[in-house]
Amino acid sequence: MKALILVGGFGTRLRPLTLTLPKPLVEFANRPMILHQIESLAKAGVTDIVLAVNYRPEIMVAALKEYEAIYNVKITFSVETEPLGTAGPLALARDILAKDDSPFFVLNSDVICDFPFEQLITFHLSHGGEGTIAVTKVDDPSKYGVVVNRPGCTKIERFVEKPKEFISNKINAGMYILSPSVLDRIELKPTSIEKEVFPFIAQAGQLHTFDLEGFWMDIGQPKDFLTGTCLYLTHLAKKKPEELVDPASEYVHKGNVMIHPSAKIGKDCRIGPNVTVGPNVVIGDGVRLQRCVILESVKIKDFAWVNSSIIGWNSTIGRWSRIEGCSVLGDDVTVNDEVYVNGGSILPHKAISANIAEPQIIM
Ligand code: GDD
Ligand code: MG
Repeated sequence: MKALILVGGFGTRLRPLTLTLPKPLVEFANRPMILHQIESLAKAGVTDIVLAVNYRPEIMVAALKEYEAIYNVKITFSVETEPLGTAGPLALARDILAKDDSPFFVLNSDVICDFPFEQLITFHLSHGGEGTIAVTKVDDPSKYGVVVNRPGCTKIERFVEKPKEFISNKINAGMYILSPSVLDRIELKPTSIEKEVFPFIAQAGQLHTFDLEGFWMDIGQPKDFLTGTCLYLTHLAKKKPEELVDPASEYVHKGNVMIHPSAKIGKDCRIGPNVTVGPNVVIGDGVRLQRCVILESVKIKDFAWVNSSIIGWNSTIGRWSRIEGCSVLGDDVTVNDEVYVNGGSILPHKAISANIAEPQIIM
């Protein structure tokens, strides 16, 4: 089977992390975002994966070539010379996607869930239409593609991208399985699959919904990245508790804590709930971490306090410092001792010595 992952885009909403790495390589639960998808696709029997890229392909190529052997898949980079949107990349990769009659998966690179690819394909083949969209329900549908079904069936009546008025809370989860005939509807030019393709397949009565079960999140912005981390860790606690630190451990508070085996934790810390700690992180004594993501090689000194924030690679948090309010520190940021940061978005290589009391970008 075949799949295409829409990798492109500049990932501006996940800055300052994406100033250092392309969004799909930013680690979610200690593994590059895109690896969660590649692994699940491989498990479902996908052998050909196209990565549709338009931004810094060289970094992606280097990082992903090594996964080909590990997951026994062929990864092809389809590089755009201009951003082709969410449909154009399918036309660009036509040779691979249409090489046989079997349907192919299309994924947005920034969604996380318990990828049910096997059920998706079974369902898609059972209805015989041209496309199936995985859907989920959210409280605020305005920032997504919204779907309305025909009464009492899985066929889609309307697909409206980012609607101004409420029409439904059922949204496009950014995962599709499409038959190769869909490629005849797409030209090789910048095109939005959500605005220029789906509404027409729906009109033809050929587009169906598949209801996702369990958690789902678009983790393309810091607030959602943190929420997605909580949902994912809660899911692991139920399904694969061996990937988390034993909740009975001395320093773990309320569970959902993932710590890389190479990280060092000091004395009398209190960590959790909903924390991931990356490789080679060094945490001092008496540190308090909750609802946060600590990326590789970060140093957190004694008695620091971090809540609802993402600490970028190689950063250092000083003693008695307090970081909160959806702060995001880029690569190699230093926060001095006894500094308070609330909602700071701090660009790579900065040193912070004065308090940041209100949310702001520090360049
Ligand atoms: N190759 C390529 N080229 N990829 C692109 C381009 C491009 O020009 N533009 C965007 N992408 C990729 C992004 O990297 C992302 O993986 C995916 O296409 C979707 O783009 P986003 O920018 O993340 O869109 P969104 O989050 O606002 O909305 C999309 O996702 C929602 C679910 O999270 C839409 O598909 C919505 O309908 C959907 O509900
Ligand atoms: Mg997105």
